[in-house]
Amino acid sequence: MNLIQVVGARPNFMKIAPLFRAVARRGFARQRLVHTGQHYDAAMSEVFFRDLAMPAPDVFLGVGSGSHAEQTAAVLVAAEKLFSAERPDLVVVAGDVNSTLACALAAAKLGIPVAHVEAGLRSRDRSMPEEINRILTDQLAELLFTPSPDGDENLEREGVPGAKIRRVGNVMIDSLLAHLPAARRSGILGRLGLCAKGYGLLTLHRPGNVDDPAVLSRLLGALGELAREEPIVFPVHPRTRRRLSEFGLSAAGLRLVEPLGYLDFLSLTDGAALVLTDSGGIQEETTVLGIPCLTLRENTERPITVEVGTNQLVGLDPHRIVAEGRRALAGDGKRGRIPDLWDGHAADRMAEAIERWRPGG
Ligand code: UD1
Repeated sequence: MNLIQVVGARPNFMKIAPLFRAVARRGFARQRLVHTGQHYDAAMSEVFFRDLAMPAPDVFLGVGSGSHAEQTAAVLVAAEKLFSAERPDLVVVAGDVNSTLACALAAAKLGIPVAHVEAGLRSRDRSMPEEINRILTDQLAELLFTPSPDGDENLEREGVPGAKIRRVGNVMIDSLLAHLPAARRSGILGRLGLCAKGYGLLTLHRPGNVDDPAVLSRLLGALGELAREEPIVFPVHPRTRRRLSEFGLSAAGLRLVEPLGYLDFLSLTDGAALVLTDSGGIQEETTVLGIPCLTLRENTERPITVEVGTNQLVGLDPHRIVAEGRRALAGDGKRGRIPDLWDGHAADRMAEAIERWRPGG
């Protein structure tokens, strides 16, 4: 079997790394790793290859940034050329970024089957670009790997035949469990002068939270107030960095640092008293590590982290953020348990399913 696995942006790397390794271990396919170049900075891309011990990409498409149409179109054109030349038997895409949809579309139109890692997640909020990418990618895929039962239910509701769906668990957790011992040796807490359980960790990059100056400034106000209790470390995404400077906002009281590599970020998550985020994957990582997580959004495509995990949707209400944040910093945050199949073996289950899979069946 000839397999192409695609990565494009930061949240793809930890999903594809374990699968690439698991397929190599089973030895049934010749596989190529393609990087679209949606994320291209050392801090957003290169460091993840190192931290996750991923092989260098076989092909780098170098598409870079742009509007949604520009970025999606650039990947679409480059991927069509590549897939036409290589004619893989299966293209594997992950998550919900623009590169995911563009590669799925390029492959599907060439009649090349697509496998989607992390299928079936739905926020039911179509103002999120990622939600559009999820819905369309799932309609194009022939093999859909879901992390939790809600994924299966969403797909069935949208008419995806059950025979295409495989519930394999959460592959991000494979990366987390494999790298946690190394992360705990990373030394980042010492470098930042932090004590375990004596700080909060914040990430913020969703367009809905950072592209409107009024929303961003209100959020930063609440977070600054919370930071009077304990330090709040804030690795700043490039999109957010740009908005802060465009809007002349200072993020007063927060400890701003550059985006971190996988091991440093995992270590900071593991040591935190509280995580505040608008990311998707971090809601899952905190649930597995048992760290209270306040999600700064009105909805989540990962409801299982709220139903059984440590996640709470607090939205953008400053009072709620401060009140729940204080409670967690005082050691009284939400507790939870780990969802089924988030056990570090999702990549093995996917590799086995790919090995057994036959086109049209
Ligand atoms: C993208 C994904 C989002 C994911 C996030 C993780 C889409 C629609 N969104 O959002 O789902 O959670 O990545 O980070 O695909 N930039 C750099 N250096 C880089 C990459 C980006 O400076 O290496 C800048 C770009 O110039 C751009 C901004 O960051 O202005 C946003 O990048 P982009 O890839 O468009 O979307 P993200 O907001 O990162």
